Amino acid sequence: MAFTIAIDGPAAAGKGTISRAVAAHFGFAHLDTGLLYRAVGRKMLEGTDPTEAALALVPEDLQTEGLRTADVGIAASRVAVIPEVRAALLDFQRAFARRDGGAVLDGRDIGTVICPEAEAKLFVTASAEVRARRRFEELVAGGAETDYQTVLNDTRERDHRDATRADAPLKPAEDAVMIDTSKMDIDAAVAAAIAAIVSRGATAGEGTA
Ligand code: CDP
Repeated sequence: MAFTIAIDGPAAAGKGTISRAVAAHFGFAHLDTGLLYRAVGRKMLEGTDPTEAALALVPEDLQTEGLRTADVGIAASRVAVIPEVRAALLDFQRAFARRDGGAVLDGRDIGTVICPEAEAKLFVTASAEVRARRRFEELVAGGAETDYQTVLNDTRERDHRDATRADAPLKPAEDAVMIDTSKMDIDAAVAAAIAAIVSRGATAGEGTA
């Protein structure tokens, strides 16, 4: 049985944590689609043409160390504006979405472009300040040397590029359930997500993945 949960939203809104928890709850497989763009962005930083890198991408590339750094995040949002890059990554994401046993995909355009027919769609957001604070703490915990203002500026720059690009801009699908996590802790955000997905017909333990 296929059941697709699409979770979109801006950087550091809590999509990743919510998606992993939701996938575990329903027994579904999970794909962080940001990693696809990060892997291509990383190859661009190493000198490979982004479209060629996207066409040659293999699942093992998503396991590479260092994809979560701030520099790779900015490179990801640069390659993500290239229509040929997005097109090259489409089939893999669609096949993943319709796999047997259910799938959770998180990204920017899952509910709007990759999987408009997804059974459940969430749009997870939070204020830029709250998201930058979370991302700053994550980066520092990972050993990066940075400051809050730099992270806030990067967050705003990336939001702007993601929301204004011509191809698959970041925006909620019309039928997405909105979850603003600015004032929620992670347990409350996960509970809100699960309730919204149950209301769209999923039952816990449904998947086989
Ligand atoms: O984890 P974070 O939210 O910071 O970023 P990410 O989800 O890893 O995505 C990195 C970049 O990839 C984003 O800023 C987008 O430009 C791009 N992206 C996209 O265009 N479409 C997706 N489905 C996922 C990511």
